Amino acid sequence: MNRNAKRLVVAALLVWLGTFRVHPATAQIERDSLTQTPPMGWNSWNKFACHVSEDLIQSVADAIATNGMKEAGYQYVVIDDCWQVSRDENGFILADPQRFPSGIKALADYVHSRGLKFGIYSDAGSKTCAGRPGSQGHEYQDALQYARWGVDYLKYDWCSSGTRNAEEAYTTMNNALLATGRPIVFSMCEWGTAKPWLWGKGIGNLWRTTGDISDKWSSKKKWPDGSCCEYGVVDIIDLEVGLETFAGPGHWNDPDMLEVGNGGMSDIEYRSHFSLWAILAAPLIAGNDLRNMRPEIHDILTNKEVIAVDQDPLGRQGERVAKNGDLEVWAKQLKDGTRAVILLNRTESEQEITANWEDLGYPKALSAAVRDLWEHKDLGKMTSKFSARVAPHAVVMVTVKP
Ligand code: GLA
Repeated sequence: MNRNAKRLVVAALLVWLGTFRVHPATAQIERDSLTQTPPMGWNSWNKFACHVSEDLIQSVADAIATNGMKEAGYQYVVIDDCWQVSRDENGFILADPQRFPSGIKALADYVHSRGLKFGIYSDAGSKTCAGRPGSQGHEYQDALQYARWGVDYLKYDWCSSGTRNAEEAYTTMNNALLATGRPIVFSMCEWGTAKPWLWGKGIGNLWRTTGDISDKWSSKKKWPDGSCCEYGVVDIIDLEVGLETFAGPGHWNDPDMLEVGNGGMSDIEYRSHFSLWAILAAPLIAGNDLRNMRPEIHDILTNKEVIAVDQDPLGRQGERVAKNGDLEVWAKQLKDGTRAVILLNRTESEQEITANWEDLGYPKALSAAVRDLWEHKDLGKMTSKFSARVAPHAVVMVTVKP
């Protein structure tokens, strides 16, 4: 086929797509129904950065399907940056032929055959953050290609976006995704710069609220050019305060992917990280090597009682309800009226922390059953408050059920 003939085929395909597509409003309702609770899955970036390949993705999908992660709710297997290298003469995006010799469609089929869903990454600018081709000016063509490949989830980054308006850029890609008629969860990775929580509902299913997480308890390190920041766990939770009301079924604040198991924090800190993400109703996107996990890390990522807090159908994001210096109480209302509660000790020594019923929105005199979600133990009925001694950088996480 000569060049003009190829162009004609592409144009005809795009027209066909425009004519027979599902109505965008219907497509959006169908797509948003997939994220009535925060999405759960795995993403390659935090551990593997640009070292992605079809072998890696297949073996991680195998691990999730067989190590209890799938049963615990992890579903999306997402390749982050660096799978793409260039565009063909018609502008279609091309995967790295060395690292993905079977092609992206075959990889998506493989992930689907393991009972999981498949995700991919692009960027609203001309280049991705790792310098690969971005989607700017190719939005509809990329969306069409993703749909043909069987993509179920798109993480859409914000590097090289120049003077683009974020709401316009994310709306354009969302419209392109909806026009394909395939439900593709849309993960907006705009780092919170243009406050996407104010306009993201109805565009994306989740939006990053901060710069990139780092595998640290506390960090707030600037990038070499002086712009801000690389964040530790406690830096990120501070930035979630005040955003609670913007999250709900179908649209979630995203405090970034999990670092649990990547080696930079203690197991106690990883437990706190996971608990806090659950109380925030955050997307639970694991970011470690799931093929080689210590049992302690596996137990954190698959704690069903903590996951149930994250996935509670009311879809309420929890909030910090008390703060006494570096001793904090966080609480999340669950659908049956129960509160999930975290006592968080940010200090370097063991401390007693108290959650008062009144801070949870309960009357003082209420008698409620307290259950420890990490010890998997009922602690009995209590009135007015619950107190516990909490180790440095640790949490005690309970449910308080009237
Ligand atoms: C940005 C994003 C990260 C990751 C990298 C990939 O920094 O915020 O989550 O996707 O780009 O280059």
